[in-house]
Amino acid sequence: MAKKIGILTGGGDCPGLNPAIRGCVYAAERMGYECIGFRDGWKGIIENITMPLNRDIVRDIILQGGTMLGTSRTHPYKREKGVDMLRETFKKQNLHALVAMGGEDTLGVANKLYNDFKLPVVGVPKTMDNDLSGTDFTFGFDSSVTVALDALSRLRDTANSHHRVIVLEVMGRHAGWVSLYTAIAGAADYMCLPERPVNLEDLTKKIKAAYAKKNYALVVTSEATDLPTTDKGQVQAKDDFGHVVLQGRGVGEKLADLIEEQTGIETRHAVIGHIQRGGAPTLFDRMLGTRVGVGAAQFVHEGKFGVMAALKGDKIQPVPLQEAVGQLKTVTKEWMDFSELMF
Ligand code: F6P
Repeated sequence: MAKKIGILTGGGDCPGLNPAIRGCVYAAERMGYECIGFRDGWKGIIENITMPLNRDIVRDIILQGGTMLGTSRTHPYKREKGVDMLRETFKKQNLHALVAMGGEDTLGVANKLYNDFKLPVVGVPKTMDNDLSGTDFTFGFDSSVTVALDALSRLRDTANSHHRVIVLEVMGRHAGWVSLYTAIAGAADYMCLPERPVNLEDLTKKIKAAYAKKNYALVVTSEATDLPTTDKGQVQAKDDFGHVVLQGRGVGEKLADLIEEQTGIETRHAVIGHIQRGGAPTLFDRMLGTRVGVGAAQFVHEGKFGVMAALKGDKIQPVPLQEAVGQLKTVTKEWMDFSELMF
């Protein structure tokens, strides 16, 4: 009987997950394994909710955004008997290994299961935020920034026509990569990141200067930018993993108000939110997803557990999960200095 590999996708979805599932299934089958999918992240393995996975089922999913397995932000250690139930499913399904595809939270759980019980897990790094350590890039990021860039170029047309300032708020949680890449590649006039509190004087000066030249200006901000007006100390909603829910915090709107107040120029804002997470994966994400999916199956075959299939330079390598979840990869001083030249 073929050995069985379970696959799950956890945390926020992003384009690239389906290519990764497909890559893993294709490679696993070629090496003689059978695959099974668990629905909705850790919830699926806790509750033993499965779906079949084989080459025929996954053939065309490389074209699709989202995840065919569904996802959730379920944390097994926070659910009563969650870990016991999960281990029970592992036995019941006679799993040889589990491939967990996710970001810091999902891989954090995978790492804990590996450390606590030596559960044979291999991680696949994903996140549109690109904030995972131990890998050069995560799939999902390129697709999300591509959507944000499209939004910015649409905003440019209307800002130009109405002679306004427009602020675009993007996701990215506590790392500013999405904002930084969108602002630089989209030729914005200013960018705001969570790693750097807003300097009002600099912001006002640069927006006024840009407006004086072209009669409009574009600003990109991260959803987690620290504004002088941010409501600190307020009770904020948190998810299972203890993350503050940033949507609806209104950073883009507050920043637009601030700019209008400081400059006297009519200012609007747009929040693209989850639109950034949908749609077909870009070429880069299809290829990276496929490569790390294949890598995960190979590491299972080689008995390399407690690692994730990471992109290092142009190679897919096994990197200890511990390295991925130890610290968030935020925008560095080097990148800040580089971006100073662009604004
Ligand atoms: O981590 C990915 C991400 O899209 C963040 O950029 C964002 O803050 C968060 O997920 C949104 O989470 P949810 O989909 O649970 O609202």
